Amino acid sequence: MDIRPSSSPDTPPPRAVLFDAYGTLFDVHSVGRLAEELFPGHGAALSLLWRDKQIEYTRLVTTSRRHGELGTPDSSPPFYRPFGELTRAALVYAIKKIANNDHSTMGIAEFDAKVTRLMAQYHHLDAFADAREVLTALKARNIPTGILSNGDPEMLGAVVRNAGLADLLDHVISVDRVRHYKTHPEAYGLGVHALGLHPDQIVFVSSNSWDALGAAWYGYTTLWVNRAGLPFEELGTMPTRTASTLGAVLDFFPA
Ligand code: LAC
Repeated sequence: MDIRPSSSPDTPPPRAVLFDAYGTLFDVHSVGRLAEELFPGHGAALSLLWRDKQIEYTRLVTTSRRHGELGTPDSSPPFYRPFGELTRAALVYAIKKIANNDHSTMGIAEFDAKVTRLMAQYHHLDAFADAREVLTALKARNIPTGILSNGDPEMLGAVVRNAGLADLLDHVISVDRVRHYKTHPEAYGLGVHALGLHPDQIVFVSSNSWDALGAAWYGYTTLWVNRAGLPFEELGTMPTRTASTLGAVLDFFPA
């Protein structure tokens, strides 16, 4: 298998940073507290399955085509639905799989009310503790910053605003514009287009290993923020750098 870094020694130094949102700047598992309150004993498992299902659904709708649509232009995936809708569908699935047996007496209205409360949390996810400090330091060094995320514009706007990070981000880019989820190249291409730079001039930061891999394949300089000490994906390509905190992105831009 072809193992190569996504930048070589003669690559020009990076000039901008794009962050993944969910799991990287914002802690998707901060919903576990409310999930535990609403479904006692199941909060952590619910939060994990919700996230896995959410990502699985993005891949399903991005890659699926009806018979006869193969080979036709790829610009308008017929099964695309905004991230908020997929996130809700994933939550309903996760509750049905994990928690419903203990709540078999729960009526539809109560079920819907719990789904609505958990979905609302997606607008109020905790930013990771180092996010503000790192974005502030990048701004002080005049490095353009942004988010490039599967989140739809409404969700991203709300979570960024509620975390008080709006003033620290030059771009908040949603893949909704191309209706393809990461790791589709049209999704990663949005970042390159917005910044007007070559992908290897942009550090793409993600805590999601599949996203760091997709970005590296696309050509970005990549930082995988591996907070949990996980192995990287075993597909032969490594991120440019790996670190345990967001702060490592500053090492790409000596003060
Ligand atoms: C994002 C999710 C998938 O794109 O982490 O923000």
